Amino acid sequence: MFKGKARAYTNIALIKYWGKKNEALILPMNNSLSLTLDAFYTETEVIFSDSYIADEFYLDDTLQDEKATKKVSQFLDLFRKEAGISLKASVISQNFVPTAAGLASSASGLAALAGACNTALKLGLDDLSLSRFARRGSGSACRSIFGGFVEWEKGHDDLSSYAKPVPSDSFEDDLAMVFILINDQKKEVSSRNGMRRTVETSSFYQGWLDSVEGDLYQLKQAIKTKDFQLLGETMERNGLKMHGTTLAAQPPFTYWSPDSLKAMDAVRQLRKQGIPCYFTMDAGPNVKVLVENSHLSEVQETFTKLFSKEQVITAHAGPGIAIIE
Ligand code: ADP
Ligand code: DP6
Ligand code: CO
Repeated sequence: MFKGKARAYTNIALIKYWGKKNEALILPMNNSLSLTLDAFYTETEVIFSDSYIADEFYLDDTLQDEKATKKVSQFLDLFRKEAGISLKASVISQNFVPTAAGLASSASGLAALAGACNTALKLGLDDLSLSRFARRGSGSACRSIFGGFVEWEKGHDDLSSYAKPVPSDSFEDDLAMVFILINDQKKEVSSRNGMRRTVETSSFYQGWLDSVEGDLYQLKQAIKTKDFQLLGETMERNGLKMHGTTLAAQPPFTYWSPDSLKAMDAVRQLRKQGIPCYFTMDAGPNVKVLVENSHLSEVQETFTKLFSKEQVITAHAGPGIAIIE
């Protein structure tokens, strides 16, 4: 019997990953850059044993259906191949983050599973290799291997596509990300299907590709010079462009809801009042507000009033993957 357990935190992209060049290997069209956060995470245990006749997958104490289990099985196959074994496994995972709601559960979930497999099978993969493996489960998961600011180098094949930490002189410690929970239920269009439809059908997609490198350059400059305004403006612009591409997809779709617009508007109002803060959104209606710790309380107060206390969750920069027990 081989057993391993790991914890991984979610990450939110400041420069988004949006579109795959290779679906099977999960190679992205563009580099992305994220911040790992401390408020949401996944803990996953995996046990490989000859006592199992099939893989089983428990998420939040519920045995998952065939479809969800198959996804996990295919991911486990990568590790079984690496270890040269064929043992079936039991995967027991707890999401301390709403699942499939645009809050990056696939990032923490697949990173934690990768870490658990590495430990269980004593593969001794270093963090860069672990990032490559996590990528095969969900693209954004490759960034959750590391804490703080992280860049996913798109690469050109399986070996060259992985994430790595971005040197930042602890700039991330000055920052907070306030999550406005607008809807924590499962979204209608998964990240995977949303980006596929966009790549295949959106006439705006080329516009995304044409400008994402420039945004990435600016964002890295902002980290280097600890320029919060440049960081926030670049993040906000990049996120809006990503969401713009979905409107020209066929059929068109959007992850925004009326409350998302309300939250975005409140961020703009705060800026007018002289409080520097900026928003981003992922594949879901929830809004994330980036702010310096020095202005955190104003942002918290505004959103608690506008929504409710339960809907406002504050995160700071979080750590990389950890092996537990
Ligand atoms: P999110 O915005 O939460 O990342 P996605 O559409 O990208 O939403 O991914 C959701 C999918 O990620 C789930 O349907 C499931 O397949 C996978 N996932 C989420 N949490 C876990 C977990 N703890 N272990 C394994 N897979 C997970
Ligand atoms: C909008 O990593 O969830 O959050 O690779 O298909 O599993 P798959 O998708 P996923 O996509 C994340 C998209 C995003 C932007 C980002 O996190 O960079
Ligand atoms: Co995801």
